[in-house]
Amino acid sequence: MKMKMRLDRFLANLGIGSRREVVSLIKKGKVTINGQKVTATDFKVDPEKDLIQVEGVYVQVKPQGFYYKFYKPKGCITSKADKDLTVMEFLPKDLPGLNRIFPVGRLDKDTEGLLIFTDDGLLAHRILHPKWKLSKTYQVLIDKEITEESLKKIEEGVNLSDGKTLPCKVFCLDKTRKFLQIEVIEGRYHLIKRMFGRLGYKVVGLKRTAIGPIELGDLKPSEIVPLSFEEIQSLKKALGLLTG
Ligand code: URA
Repeated sequence: MKMKMRLDRFLANLGIGSRREVVSLIKKGKVTINGQKVTATDFKVDPEKDLIQVEGVYVQVKPQGFYYKFYKPKGCITSKADKDLTVMEFLPKDLPGLNRIFPVGRLDKDTEGLLIFTDDGLLAHRILHPKWKLSKTYQVLIDKEITEESLKKIEEGVNLSDGKTLPCKVFCLDKTRKFLQIEVIEGRYHLIKRMFGRLGYKVVGLKRTAIGPIELGDLKPSEIVPLSFEEIQSLKKALGLLTG
């Protein structure tokens, strides 16, 4: 029978951060166990049974092995359960690992494109954490022509209510100056819409086309396929999860 262990030790062992970093995360109320916020660092967890989330992302130590890419269509919510239509309802009922996998990060209801599903909590955490600098690439359609000055401001970082955005890459995909590609390493709520909104542009279409080395490619809306061995390896490599 496995012993219960201290929450801070469990998270540090998993590689979420140093002991000091995970203590700070717990004290800030960023960790939930079975849906309840826990701020006591010596709280005892059963890593095999408890559902542990750090900053909204599931982490776990049990066998990890399901990795999928999915084309999220517009009109559904990125959540495991909701009153509204969720991404889960598009997944085949016989998909291996269906009851274990969860979507990594969120796309808005009206956003389409690449969403990774996995049961690998550490990989999920690293995909989302800016420390690992994994790029997320989006195609963006805005309501009016963008100026060179605005492009420069977005690249350098814009001030949002929750802080300045990190430097990113952005460029026009055609001569209309309304169809752009942007590459960011953050995963903040409504990030792209807020960045453009701050400078007076409305995002009227948003599609994620890549997450680090994983590309949407020619997947069709609502299609899900397992990541290839090469894709998993390249993703893990980019996130410091492969040694040698
Ligand atoms: N930024 C947004 O504004 N929405 C998304 O769905 C993803 C990134």
